[in-house]
Amino acid sequence: MSGMRILVPRERTAGERRVAATPDTVAQLVALGASVAVERGAGASARFPDANYEAAGAQLVDSADPSGAALVLRVAPPTVEEVRAMDRGSVLIGYAAPHRNLDMVRALADAGVTALAMELVPRISRAQSMDALSSQANLAGYRAVLTAAAEVDKYFPLLMTAAGTVRPAEVVVLGAGVAGLQALATARRLGAVVYVSDIREAAREEVASLGGRFIDLPQAGDMADAGGYAKELGEELLVRQREVLTERLRKAHVAITTAQIPLRPAPLLITRAMVEAMPAGAVVIDLAAADGGNCELSEPDRIVEHGDVRIIPGQTLVNTMPGEASALYARNVLALTKLLVSEGAIRIDLEDEVVAGTVMTHEGRVVHPRVAPLLEPATETQSVAETKGGDA
Ligand code: NAI
Repeated sequence: MSGMRILVPRERTAGERRVAATPDTVAQLVALGASVAVERGAGASARFPDANYEAAGAQLVDSADPSGAALVLRVAPPTVEEVRAMDRGSVLIGYAAPHRNLDMVRALADAGVTALAMELVPRISRAQSMDALSSQANLAGYRAVLTAAAEVDKYFPLLMTAAGTVRPAEVVVLGAGVAGLQALATARRLGAVVYVSDIREAAREEVASLGGRFIDLPQAGDMADAGGYAKELGEELLVRQREVLTERLRKAHVAITTAQIPLRPAPLLITRAMVEAMPAGAVVIDLAAADGGNCELSEPDRIVEHGDVRIIPGQTLVNTMPGEASALYARNVLALTKLLVSEGAIRIDLEDEVVAGTVMTHEGRVVHPRVAPLLEPATETQSVAETKGGDA
């Protein structure tokens, strides 16, 4: 079968400026034998004009109506209504944040849509080109430091001037995953002294190799799971971690928090009292704000001023570089699409490790082993996820 139709709608989620396909990736989708419909204005906020999509072979359409589309490419998770408009048997690729969007996950299964969630792409070598968590976290970590540097009332580097010596800024990075390591590297380039906390032992060496100082948490042991991800710390260990961090934060001009547990609320690492003990003029950038936040005072979608400390939510950061973020995300989406398409048609091969690891709903069911348990009635997981709320 040929003539597979792909739809790229304009993102409607507040604050979302990215787009799931760029003119470059559209050209490659067309080369796969697809007809690509791009909603007018879909790339406008990322500065990709309609005319460039048209020149790449897309057909511009006036609405986001997905009927007739075999594949829909998105950035933010759809609403339940948007899911219901999709054809049975069609495929969706985009972020899903399933732990925060349980109704939407159920709607995908009910609508018979095969949804591939970008945050579920397995972290294996073969899937690196599809790893949007990494491409976007890299950008967020970099941008977090530049934003903090621009906002904080402190030089980052050590300066010896005629008017005296300026001590370098102290930056604390919580979580040494992709975002945290990029934040560390960027802050070091600007000359700051950077302290980093993580609960996976493997992070210690990575932090040292980038010139960071690892914050010892002797009580935790190694909290990595078999897949190399962090396990969720119990409250007792978190309390002890916060005690250690309190001392570090007392002198920190900037804190960048990136600690996350896949498909779970983020661990609370900076309490109100810890913020109040930070130096006047300090800045906290919370990259986990959408998942409840690493900082007690974070709001997912607005800057909080608490005394003389500002707490900035991180998810808006990728949207301060929407062109670059879209270019990377669109390439991740294209790589995943290529894995699904053979001879101009989509085939969902659940024997493929990457496909099986990424497919969330298929043929009317929630098939993903880490997502299905979130929907089981009255589990603790579900109630925690639902009270944290939020759409995207
Ligand atoms: P993430 O975004 O899920 O979490 C960020 C960091 O927070 C992690 O390093 C985690 O250990 C840490 N964290 C969790 N709870 C914490 C706490 N209480 N205190 C301090 N830190 C805490 O992480 P990301 O960026 O997704 O990376 C996770 C792992 O996946 C890393 O080992 C990374 O190297 C690996 N990875 C592998 C890839 C591949 O093989 N293709 C690609 C990207 C990442």
